[in-house]
Amino acid sequence: MSDALFVTRLHRGRISVAQDLERTCLVLAAEDRAGQRWSREHGYGGYTSYASLNDLTRRASVFETLEKAIAKQVAVFARELQFDMAGRRLALDSFWINVMEKGAIHAPHIHPHSVISGTYYVTVPPKSGAIRFEDPRLAMLMAAPPKKKNARPENRSFVDVEPKAGALLLWESWLRHGVEPNRARTPRISVSFNYRVD
Ligand SMILES: [Fe+2]
Repeated sequence: MSDALFVTRLHRGRISVAQDLERTCLVLAAEDRAGQRWSREHGYGGYTSYASLNDLTRRASVFETLEKAIAKQVAVFARELQFDMAGRRLALDSFWINVMEKGAIHAPHIHPHSVISGTYYVTVPPKSGAIRFEDPRLAMLMAAPPKKKNARPENRSFVDVEPKAGALLLWESWLRHGVEPNRARTPRISVSFNYRVD
């Protein structure tokens, strides 16, 4: 018998994919010259609106609807994490499109200045890459043996999640994660976001 202390939670939800969401993402990706330039200059294997568009929810109602559905699940997750908000609230900080082409990877990273981050998957071809979460204590493991291949997820140092279209993943923004190469011929399309304390 043992207790689980200092738990790292991953929220898995579902939101049905709006019919025109994929098309809207691709239209913006095709039109956003500044975003295309930023993606090229930063070696992003595809397109992201991260650095170029900060008003997606006002650009197309499909993003506004999606953000409302995400915000509901963020609120559920925050309750589960038992945040004492002391009268403050979680607010959307950034909301962006990712179109990852064949071969694209996303090196491990965290999302600074945020509290809850996540991704909503719009189009996920088979073999288009899992998202890998890392144990935040990796640097402290020192002489600890590695975990068995079939260890339970809560005991693993790395957890891979293969998302499906319509999946929503939420995690605390300090949790390091990266995305494996897209081995499909067609792009994986997702929408990522950060929430901060307002
Ligand atoms: Fe990320």
